[in-house]
Amino acid sequence: MDYVQQRVAQEAAKPDGAGSAPSGLLTPLNIILLSVVLYTTFSYLKPKPAAALPKEAPAVVFRTFTPRTLLPYNGENNMPVYLAVRGRVFDVTRGRNFYGPGGPYANFAGRDASRGLACGSFDEDMLTKDLDGPLDTLSDLGKDELEAMAGWEERFLEKYLVVGKLVAAGDEGKEETQ
Ligand code: HEM
Repeated sequence: MDYVQQRVAQEAAKPDGAGSAPSGLLTPLNIILLSVVLYTTFSYLKPKPAAALPKEAPAVVFRTFTPRTLLPYNGENNMPVYLAVRGRVFDVTRGRNFYGPGGPYANFAGRDASRGLACGSFDEDMLTKDLDGPLDTLSDLGKDELEAMAGWEERFLEKYLVVGKLVAAGDEGKEETQ
């Protein structure tokens, strides 16, 4: 018999369980306790995410908008909410309940709201139709309407930050050179 066969025969001749852990230790209770200890140790040693620093509010930059570039600022897709009145762009994100998606004045979000506010109307034709055309001159509005608009403007100036100006497409940067 060669060496390997001898060893196999010796192992086969050993009584059951010899060389392994005494079966008395493998009780269900011990298995549960071991799992708890392992889980606790793992949880304790697991690297913890770095403490998050409070995010700083992004700096406000005064920008030039056109009706088209203002459009995405309507509170959808986590965007802030801006609206324009007589060429001034206001950040009305604080008033998201009014102007954000589903709000009563959501039609003004991302738009030139001048005419709608002046006329007290949410009609679609109060808004600039051609986003690449000239701005609404409001020249046909009467005294009362202009006063109503000025009232809203005053309120917005008290409440919201002006973040830019609205110009017609193609007029960006014109004022700087004049
Ligand atoms: C049935 C008619 C209306 C009712 C009951 C109504 C109700 C209100 C209420 C309760 C507020 C909140 C006021 C505050 O807490 O500061 C508000 C604000 C406002 N409303 Fe109206 N409203 C009406 C019509 C209009 C119309 C016709 C317009 C203009 C087209 C308008 C534009 C606004 C604006 C711009 C604000 C200010 C939101 C802000 O502070 O940013 N509302 N309205």
